[in-house]
Amino acid sequence: MPGEKKSWKGIILAGGSGTRLYPLTVAVNKQLLPVYDKPMVYYPLTTLMLAGIREFVLISSPQALPQFQSCLGDGSQWGIRIDYAAQPAPEGIAQAFIIAEKFIVGHPTALILGDNLFYGTGLSSQFQRAIGRRDGATIFAYPVQQPEAFGIVTFDGEGAVLSLEEKPQKARSNLAVPGLYFYDADVLEIAKALKPSPRGELEITDLNRVYMERGKLRAEMLGRGSAWLDGGTPGTLFEASQFVMVMEQRTGLKIACPEEAAYRMEFISANALLALSRQMRNGEYASYLQKMITS
Ligand code: DAU
Repeated sequence: MPGEKKSWKGIILAGGSGTRLYPLTVAVNKQLLPVYDKPMVYYPLTTLMLAGIREFVLISSPQALPQFQSCLGDGSQWGIRIDYAAQPAPEGIAQAFIIAEKFIVGHPTALILGDNLFYGTGLSSQFQRAIGRRDGATIFAYPVQQPEAFGIVTFDGEGAVLSLEEKPQKARSNLAVPGLYFYDADVLEIAKALKPSPRGELEITDLNRVYMERGKLRAEMLGRGSAWLDGGTPGTLFEASQFVMVMEQRTGLKIACPEEAAYRMEFISANALLALSRQMRNGEYASYLQKMITS
C-alpha cells in the first residue's frame, strides 16, 4: 500500500569461526557461550527488542543454526518472530543483508553483531529514536583505547559523518563504531553493489561509506556512562561476564533478560510471563520473572 509504514527488521549476525576463542568454540558457536548467566546471543537480541523491533533474522553458520534454533525457537514465547538463515562462510558483515534479502526487502533494517553487549541508562531510548528515522542510516561512536582494532569514525557537531576507517594503523580519532547499525530500506541495494575488500570480505565500513558519501550517515555518541563490550577473546568474554555479574548482583536487576524485555515492551502479557517462568521450574531466573509480576 502506498504510504504504508514498513516495520523494522532486526538482523543478528552470529556466525564467524570463533578461532580467537578456541578450544571453547570447537563444539559450540561463540554466541551461545555464557556471558555470566545467559547465552551471549540474548544480549544483542534484547538490545533490539528494547529498541522496539519484533521481527528478526538470525544468521549463523549452517552447523550452528540448529543450536540457535533450540536456544531461541521461533520467538513466539517472547511475542516476537525469529527466522534463521545460513552464512556458509564468514565473507563479511555486510553480506548479512544479502543473505537476509527475502526477509528485509523494502524494510528499514537494524544489524547487530552477535557478540556485542550494550548496557547503560538511556540507551534504549537512544536506539528507539534511531528507529524513528526512516531516511539514511545511524551508527554510534564509543571511545576506545585501541582504535586500530575497530572501525573508526569522525563526525561534525550535527552528527554528520566526515570519515570512516576500518582498523586503521594511524586512526583519526579514538571513536570506535560499535556493532549496531540502523539503515533505511536502501541498505539491501547498497550491500549488493559492494565489492569484497582486500581481505575478501564485504565490509560494513564500505557500506557505511556509501551512506556517508550520500550525506545520509549520522553518528551519535554513546553516553559516557554506558558500556559497550564484546566477547571475542577469552579475556573480553571473561570481562563481559564479570561486568554482568557485578551489575546484576548489586542491583538485583538482570541485564538482557528477553522475558523481561518482552513483558516491559508489552509484547507478552503477565500471564504469558508467568507461564514462561513456570516452565523453568524453580531456578533463580524463574523467581526473578515471578517477582517482576508481583512487584
Ligand atoms: O565490534 C565492532 C567492530 O566489528 C566494528 O568496529 C568494525 O568496524 C567491524 O568490522 C567489526 O570488526 P570485528 O573485527 O570485531 O569483526 P569480526 O570479524 O570479529 O566479526 C564480528 C562478529 O560478526 C563476530 O561475532 C562474528 C560475526 N561475523 C563476522 C563476519 C566477518 C559473522 O557472523 N560473519 C562474518 O562474515
